Amino acid sequence: MEQMKPILSVAQLEKSFGGVQAVRGAEFEVLEGSITALIGPNGAGKSTVVNLIAGALRPDAGQVHFRGVDITGYKPHQVAGHGLIRTFQISREYPAMTVLENLMVSPLGQTGEHLFSALFRRGHYKSEEREFVEKAIAILDEFGLYGMRNEYARNLSGGQKRLLELARAVMADPKMLILDEPMAGINPALISRIGEHMLRLKEDNGYTFLMVEHNLDVVERVCDHVVVLAVGRTLAQGTMSELRQDAEVVSAYLTGGSVGAGTKG
Ligand SMILES: Nc1ncnc2c1ncn2[C@@H]1O[C@H](COP(=O)(O)OP(=O)(O)O)[C@@H](O)[C@H]1O
Ligand SMILES: [Mg+2]
Repeated sequence: MEQMKPILSVAQLEKSFGGVQAVRGAEFEVLEGSITALIGPNGAGKSTVVNLIAGALRPDAGQVHFRGVDITGYKPHQVAGHGLIRTFQISREYPAMTVLENLMVSPLGQTGEHLFSALFRRGHYKSEEREFVEKAIAILDEFGLYGMRNEYARNLSGGQKRLLELARAVMADPKMLILDEPMAGINPALISRIGEHMLRLKEDNGYTFLMVEHNLDVVERVCDHVVVLAVGRTLAQGTMSELRQDAEVVSAYLTGGSVGAGTKG
């Protein structure tokens, strides 16, 4: 964790939807090689910030820099092309394809889809295509999904679909992943598995993560740094234990073990 420098920085970001000012000057940095959490109550603007970073929305004001490049206003495929990939915003698996086929459809877009259809119509592979298949198989193996490679994605459990989505993102060799509530609605065993895969990808592959997460136990276990967003602004940031010392953060957001309109309280 020594010598960490920012890989992503968000400055004075603003976004309104009609009369609703969803993001009002959010500012934070994500250090390279860290797992950073973005927390805050429902409606704080977390998903909007993620969409602004990933290029799904254009900011009204402010800047997003990734690896020294001003990516403000980039289209999603341009952001992804720079190595910054967002998952878990919507379930993106292809239900009528097998688990293995899903990895052939690159999250970077059409290249993978074309390659996929070419591969499977022709029924034989060129050598670089064989490498692609071998890479997919190796990744499925790492994620414990190899045994399910010929299963239709629609038959996976919710948690297994999240794992598949993570495996698909890894196919693109990203530098950084943004995950919007990856643990929502899945069972505790799969929550642990996803957390372990994130830690493995950080340690072994040098990945950086920004994760929107409500479950503070997960945040405490997995994240190095936490950014607290409230009404579209950065309220506080630090480690989870530092934030527990912050009276304003504690009284507003850290009571009851969940954030905002959580179920426990
Ligand atoms: N596409 C949209 N159109 C109109 N209002 C939106 C849209 N997206 C988000 N909002 C509003 O912006 C605010 C922030 O939403 P959001 O970023 O989803 O918060 P969070 O992810 O922290 O729960 C909320 O008041 C929400 O209703
Ligand atoms: Mg959200």
